[in-house]
Amino acid sequence: MENFTFVNETKIIFGKDTENQVGMETVKYGKRVLLHYGGGSIKKYGLYDKILKSLKGAGLEIIELGGVQPNPVLSLAKKGIDICRKEKVDFILAVGGGSVIDSAKIIAVGVPYSGDVWDFYIGKAVPEKILPVGVVLTIPASGSESSTSAVITNEKGLYKKGLESGLLRPNFAILNPEITYTLPPYQTACGATDMMAHIMERYFTAVKNVDLTDRLCEGALKTVINNVSIVLKEPENYNARAELMWAGAIAHNNLLGTGRIGDWASHKIEMEISGVYDLAHGAGLAIILPVWMKYVYKKDVERFAQFAVRVMDQEPDFYDMEKTALKGIDRLKEFFKGIGMPVTLKEADIPYDRLEEMASKCTESGPVGNFVKLDKDDILAILEMAK
Ligand code: NZQ
Ligand code: ZN
Repeated sequence: MENFTFVNETKIIFGKDTENQVGMETVKYGKRVLLHYGGGSIKKYGLYDKILKSLKGAGLEIIELGGVQPNPVLSLAKKGIDICRKEKVDFILAVGGGSVIDSAKIIAVGVPYSGDVWDFYIGKAVPEKILPVGVVLTIPASGSESSTSAVITNEKGLYKKGLESGLLRPNFAILNPEITYTLPPYQTACGATDMMAHIMERYFTAVKNVDLTDRLCEGALKTVINNVSIVLKEPENYNARAELMWAGAIAHNNLLGTGRIGDWASHKIEMEISGVYDLAHGAGLAIILPVWMKYVYKKDVERFAQFAVRVMDQEPDFYDMEKTALKGIDRLKEFFKGIGMPVTLKEADIPYDRLEEMASKCTESGPVGNFVKLDKDDILAILEMAK
């Protein structure tokens, strides 16, 4: 096991009606709030009114910025930064999913910085200050509600990149599973796939002697697999929605990564796809993960066989571990198909004419992945296998 320091300062407020506490929580940090949200689902399903009531009830001034799109863009975050400076905003409240939360984090880190916020993404600057951020989560998926990352697409060049900093963990996150009842099946499945990817990126590690976190990862993966299947049939099953919502946060708050070195190549490859083609992140991961697994499994056949047996319920073939490992990958692919995810680029209508460009951009700063280091040719091979 590797040395580690684990801190997760995000206060999680979980359960029915908890969104009504948002005013009470926010008032601990600020007076003038930027209410940041997406394309309208919060208005359509009544959450917006509840949030306004709670914020106003706590005596807060509200400035609004909606319109965050899935795969959020830098230009809107920059607009948010300008608004916050002009209006002297001292708190950012994200009501939505990963896209809204990430946009809110970028605004929060951009306001106190005198340069261009993109500097943080290209290694020209490191965040030192941030405005406080709160979250009311509407889709369990990205884990951004308690993660240290913020992902954004710069429309100039369609660069989709992530920023990592301990400062980016929100101060609080409100998680009411009932709010997720209105999620369309496709978004529910994309969310579950993303959570699984966050766990698997950590699970496939070259670090030895990580039994506790192996077992936590396996338990979390099985929880997601079991409960996504339930909610796709019963969208208003509170307990299954609750399991998924909590799993989404646990999957990416890095508890499951303690003592390990995660891989993250599948995420890097996927971000090239969703950055250029605006595909839902989870759908892109369903295409890439099984292909990545087939490309690298020989590095540690035993670990892949363990995944097959403990997570995908594959009968072990004690005489042929490799067969067991490969069957586990096939089962995972079938599972993704079963929940309505695309598993090839073709199924997601991604054309093949920019694969080389994506492989180049993906490896611009050097090889990606830690379980196995992958260079441009490897990434291109994986994208070719994903056709
Ligand atoms: O925009 P609205 O109208 O709200 O609709 C959204 C959006 O269309 C809809 N939705 C959300 N909650 C709903 C709902 N519809 C009905 N009922 C509800 N309760 O769902 C759609 C997708 O929302 P989005 O926020 O894009 O989804 P997600 O949470 O999957 O976020 C994806 C983004 O997060 C990034 C991804 O790359 C992508 O840009 N990630 C962020 C991470 C982080 N910061 O730690 C880690 C992840 O690996 C990921 O990269
Ligand atoms: Zn992800």
